[in-house]
Amino acid sequence: MRVAVFSSHPHDETYLNGANKEAGHDLVFLESRLKPHTAKLADGFDAVCAFVNDDLGEEVLEVLAGLGIEHIALRSAGFNHVDLAGAERLGFTVARVPAYSPHAVAEHTVAIMLALNRQIHKAYTRVRDGNFALDGLLGFDLHGRTVGVIGTGKIGERVAVIMSGFGCRIVAYDPHPNQVCLDLGVEYVDLPTLFGVSDIVTLHTPLTPETHHLINDKTVEMMKPGVMIVNTSRGALVDTVAVIDGLKSGRVGYLGLDVYEEEGDLFFENLSDRIITDDVFSRLLTFPNVIITGHQGFFTADAITAIAETTIENLTAFEAGTTSGNELDLGR
Ligand code: NAI
Repeated sequence: MRVAVFSSHPHDETYLNGANKEAGHDLVFLESRLKPHTAKLADGFDAVCAFVNDDLGEEVLEVLAGLGIEHIALRSAGFNHVDLAGAERLGFTVARVPAYSPHAVAEHTVAIMLALNRQIHKAYTRVRDGNFALDGLLGFDLHGRTVGVIGTGKIGERVAVIMSGFGCRIVAYDPHPNQVCLDLGVEYVDLPTLFGVSDIVTLHTPLTPETHHLINDKTVEMMKPGVMIVNTSRGALVDTVAVIDGLKSGRVGYLGLDVYEEEGDLFFENLSDRIITDDVFSRLLTFPNVIITGHQGFFTADAITAIAETTIENLTAFEAGTTSGNELDLGR
């Protein structure tokens, strides 16, 4: 199968080629992000392989369908960037990588929590500058603190397990409680209760119309003064302007983000020689109690090996006309 791999970086080429040895698909790596004006690059291919910030909205799907493409292999678990109704109408098969390493994202989430609490980002530069003063580096014991986990699927479950290991009390909100979490002693509560009791609020839900701007003016107001908010799921779960207001007032004491609502124009590229024109993002960067990483939660060798292997299995199933079990349910 001839596949146009959009948003390719060197690691995509290395790991996909590694996983493709037996299957022998003809993978062509394109650095371009998939957008309405780059979709034509898929001319002559059988399938498109896309990542989280590729645009799979109606306009792109129309172009791809016009080129005769029927299959889309997502190198991600999330599929909020796909116009599902359009994909259904135009007859696409869309497969994703439902699980690769929940540990990778959960461990990165906890890395952000620890770094924010113990101010590792400040300590690192201070010590290199010969400044060994401790003023401004005061942290708090995680032991005995309450962590609110919103979404206890594969990743949220791992975060709950790790934070339990620190001796935290874990409260959670999820319409479908998780048995591992229940066995661990996680207390399922409603969202207002979770916001009211949590010292740390961490987000692990998919982005849906229901979870869009889950963190907003009103929910920030419900949180404990000085709360730590961590989002490693999808940027649009957080209304960034509301959180900036919370940081300015001190209601939000710490903010850790691996994802950002408008990350499509920023993340995964080296923009160090350009001026960032997103003023909201730039404002976030001015706070000493904010740590942002550029959507790297998934980025461990273990996780990208698994992503590559599942992506190749999905392409092989497309080619054989069978199912890998990873296809999105488009309601057909
Ligand atoms: P999952 O599907 O295993 O779990 C999601 C959980 O959210 C489910 O238990 C579901 O019941 C719950 N949920 C759905 N709607 C909810 C709502 N309104 N309120 C509370 N909970 C709700 O997904 P998984 O694998 O744990 O991934 C979670 C998210 O993490 C993904 O959707 C994706 O956006 C993000 N992610 C981020 C990565 C990164 O590199 N930063 C990498 C992989 C995933």
